[in-house]
Amino acid sequence: MTATADNAAAGVTTDVTGYDPASYDPRSPEVKQNIEEHFERLRTTCPVHHHVFDQAELKELNDNPYVAGPVTELYSFMRHRDVEEILQSPDRFLSIEGAGPERMTPVEGTGMLVWSDGETHRRSRKICLPAFSPKNIAPLAPMLQTRIDDLIDGFADTGHLDLMADFALPVTSGMIAHLIGLPIERAPEILEWGYAVIATFGGDDASYQRGLWSLGKIGEFLAEVGPDRARRRAEGEELFDAITHVLTTEDDNGSRFTPQEAVVAVSQFLGAGIESSATAMCNGIYLLCTNPDERRKLAENPALIGTAVEEILRYMAPIEGTCRTAAADMEFGGVPLRAGTKIRPVYASANMDEEVFADPKRFRVDRDRSELRRHVTFGTGVHSCLGAALARRELALGISTLLRRIPTLELDPAEEPTRNTIFLVHGFDYLPIRWDPASVLPRAEDPVRAATAATGPAVS
Ligand code: HEM
Repeated sequence: MTATADNAAAGVTTDVTGYDPASYDPRSPEVKQNIEEHFERLRTTCPVHHHVFDQAELKELNDNPYVAGPVTELYSFMRHRDVEEILQSPDRFLSIEGAGPERMTPVEGTGMLVWSDGETHRRSRKICLPAFSPKNIAPLAPMLQTRIDDLIDGFADTGHLDLMADFALPVTSGMIAHLIGLPIERAPEILEWGYAVIATFGGDDASYQRGLWSLGKIGEFLAEVGPDRARRRAEGEELFDAITHVLTTEDDNGSRFTPQEAVVAVSQFLGAGIESSATAMCNGIYLLCTNPDERRKLAENPALIGTAVEEILRYMAPIEGTCRTAAADMEFGGVPLRAGTKIRPVYASANMDEEVFADPKRFRVDRDRSELRRHVTFGTGVHSCLGAALARRELALGISTLLRRIPTLELDPAEEPTRNTIFLVHGFDYLPIRWDPASVLPRAEDPVRAATAATGPAVS
């Protein structure tokens, strides 16, 4: 893939290293290998990066059957101040055309959650919000702790595995299964549906068919469980699962999601909630293994886990950035933007901005909480992540239980970890680890107490 950046409009300079901003191609798998270095150089030399898509990219992006109109270019914003302003200006920077660089057709004509604006977004968020309330999330922690311990018991004797496939994805897909009220045995199915939802953005007919297949599966599932949950709810039974909430919560006018809207909302929980948290889990273990002093600090003071999780999220935001569409002709960040231009606030760069974070390249499990509150890993503003509290719990429980029960856990020196090369994702998708099976400690007897003890105080 060739980089065809034309950054004249953005006041591009070169830095002392002679870095050439045209070497940054936001969709190149090669660039992904050392992307943090590009972000650092771009913040100084080219904080608003203009990329013109080449022929292969244009075909991939514009041939998608869900595409409403062609795109030709993408502006990426690297500075924290620009990223924050974009996210907090939903009237100027729209979400209706989707989170990727393509110009997607709004689902159901008006959109849904992350893929919607204005009143449609407010309504869909209001209906989904109760599913993610603390009252709903809290009962999930002991189930999650049991899932994590079962997985560790299952592989303890092997001495090595790929953390992504054998631990992180089974944990996060299990969590979503619990969230929507399904037994843990159906986690592999949930994972398959989640991947198929994401495939919608693959840009070819097979991917599109996979996306449609997953929506069909979610529809069948809702039709199967929905009436029973609605009846039990109407009879006064207290149900905590997200499906019950999504199907029974009313908007301001007393109306509920249509069956199609419910399918699209649930598809976003699956698409947004499985790979992102699993990537963050792998990023966290990688960072702790490669920063032994910080790992020691955490082992000596387990109550630091809440802060450590925030630092992991800041240091390696698992979602690199999500796109917006300029609502009108404007000048922003020093560049003129035409109405309809696709732009991208880059969370993974903003989180390392020297203007906001002291010594940002230093990974510290006890970084100041007032600084950590400014990371934009879960976005900010009206679209900020609905699943953030859930993700924080998964990470705190997963990472602290792994490191406590397997003190000899380390990166496997025999195999290199690999980076995920998908445009939206930032982090590892293959992380080989090893340990001494004799060192594995037994699980705590009471999962409720273990879950509470392991998560420590949450950062809010
Ligand atoms: C570490 C894990 C996660 C990360 C880094 C993450 C990140 C994000 C970000 C950056 C956004 C904002 C997107 C935008 O403004 O365009 C977002 C929105 C969203 N996330 Fe997450 N997420 C994570 C986990 C989850 C989980 C576990 C769920 C649910 C099961 C979830 C559900 C959602 C939903 C429904 C939205 C749309 C909210 C709206 O548009 O109002 N996320 N997430």
